[in-house]
Amino acid sequence: MKHTLNLDKTASPGRPPDPQVRAGDPTQQHRASRRTLLSWMVGIAAGAFVVSFAVPAAALKALMLEKPVIAVGDVLTYATTATGGQPFKAADLAVGGSAQLFPMGKSDNQDNLLQVVRITEGAGAAGLVAYSAICTHLGCAVFEKLNKEGLILCPCHGSIYDPASHAAVRRGPSDRALPGIAIADGPNGTIIANGPFDGPVGPQ
Ligand code: FES
Repeated sequence: MKHTLNLDKTASPGRPPDPQVRAGDPTQQHRASRRTLLSWMVGIAAGAFVVSFAVPAAALKALMLEKPVIAVGDVLTYATTATGGQPFKAADLAVGGSAQLFPMGKSDNQDNLLQVVRITEGAGAAGLVAYSAICTHLGCAVFEKLNKEGLILCPCHGSIYDPASHAAVRRGPSDRALPGIAIADGPNGTIIANGPFDGPVGPQ
């Protein structure tokens, strides 16, 4: 007797082979393709799910790494291009003088920009006041030099702040003082940050 090998796995003893599972059946091939496609889609969806959490976490970490915040003990350095990065010395400023400074190594965060003004004679940090140099109206940096009245002027829309009076607003459109920050004497005549800003920096 002649025997033939039945390759159809759906076939069972006493049951005739399913005619649709024969090799080369286009319907069966289509189902296989759909199963493959479905597997790919599930894989992609799972990957997207993981990435949706991983990417924001990585971005947040990167932002935090890129934006170091001023901290107690940071030595203040000049922000201007001519003397940028050089430590600021308290003796550099005469009464009525002002300078814009960054905490050393943290100039890539614009919110760290300080406006230091000497309002009276004094040794070291005595007679100096320090504020955020970021206008509370829409966030422009104020002018480094004071105006003729000894006030801090914002170049964008003309807001004016009084450095001798806690940077209170003397003229709008800003309606909030520049946040202040405590400073203290550092080594070799330098000045250091001695606290965080006493209010939010820039527009809120
Ligand atoms: Fe300073 Fe508008 S941003 S006045």
